Amino acid sequence: MAVIRPWALVTGASSGLGVDFARQLALKGWNLVLTARRRDRLESLAEALRRDTGAEVLVLDGDLALPQFRDALVAAATLDRKLQMVINNAGFGQQDPFLDGAYARWQDVMTLNMTALVDLSWRLGRHMRDHGLPSHLVNIASIGAYQPVPTFAVYAASKSFVRDFSEAIAFELAVTNVAVTCVCPGATKTEFMDTAGLKLNRVAQLGLQSSEACVREALNAALAGRRLVVTGWLNKVVTFMTRFAPRGLAARLSEQSMRPPG
Ligand SMILES: NC(=O)c1ccc[n+]([C@@H]2O[C@H](COP(=O)([O-])OP(=O)(O)OC[C@H]3O[C@@H](n4cnc5c(N)ncnc54)[C@H](OP(=O)(O)O)[C@@H]3O)[C@@H](O)[C@H]2O)c1
Repeated sequence: MAVIRPWALVTGASSGLGVDFARQLALKGWNLVLTARRRDRLESLAEALRRDTGAEVLVLDGDLALPQFRDALVAAATLDRKLQMVINNAGFGQQDPFLDGAYARWQDVMTLNMTALVDLSWRLGRHMRDHGLPSHLVNIASIGAYQPVPTFAVYAASKSFVRDFSEAIAFELAVTNVAVTCVCPGATKTEFMDTAGLKLNRVAQLGLQSSEACVREALNAALAGRRLVVTGWLNKVVTFMTRFAPRGLAARLSEQSMRPPG
């Protein structure tokens, strides 16, 4: 008898955490809808996953900042398909003092990290609630969500938004078939640092996690129905301590942790 594999959609699946979400889900028996802008990368990942795991994989490339692409993505991903997991993983940051950075860049961070995430959470959350099968909405925030982060102000604030938003709707949806999990990684080895123009100093490097380990923790938490997970033991310690620090001190310490090496 053929085994029915559930479907998951992963955004930002062309590199970093997204690739590991796709790999680990395929190995756990899921079929996948993968999206990001770089089609060549998505296609080679899809080919490898079909060959190695027998998963069905649909590739839909495009820019999530564009509402018309989000329309097309939702329509194609849900056509004759019931998604049971949506991972809003695509996101990026930019390190710069706020007034010295380009406003267009701040706007791009806000559009992808917040607007696109809320839009997909709403539309695909309704899709999952309506079909009624056990489902998961997984939103990727950051340990930057736990305090103000000078020189990373817009990014960290966007992740505070993701965390608050996700925890609030997790509460609202607790009585439904849709479990919501917010994942807060710390520094993780992906392309994120290069995109953000970020160089980690020695202190920040202490908590550096592999993408594979981060995703393993994230998926275990999501599949267990947990509402919030901070990945990596040092990140857990730091975010726990942050609860007791005055906001000014937390901002000062996070500014120090963001200083480039040297
Ligand atoms: N790595 C870290 O240290 C770290 C720490 C905390 C939180 N996070 C969060 O983890 C998530 C994954 O990041 P990562 O570390 O895996 O970084 P990454 O390797 O740079 O991957 C980012 C992904 O987002 C996609 N993306 C970027 N802009 C997009 C757009 N406009 N439309 C569609 N897709 C877009 C990229 O694909 P294309 O370029 O092909 O579109 C890529 O697949 C992000 O939300 C990030 O904020 C990362």
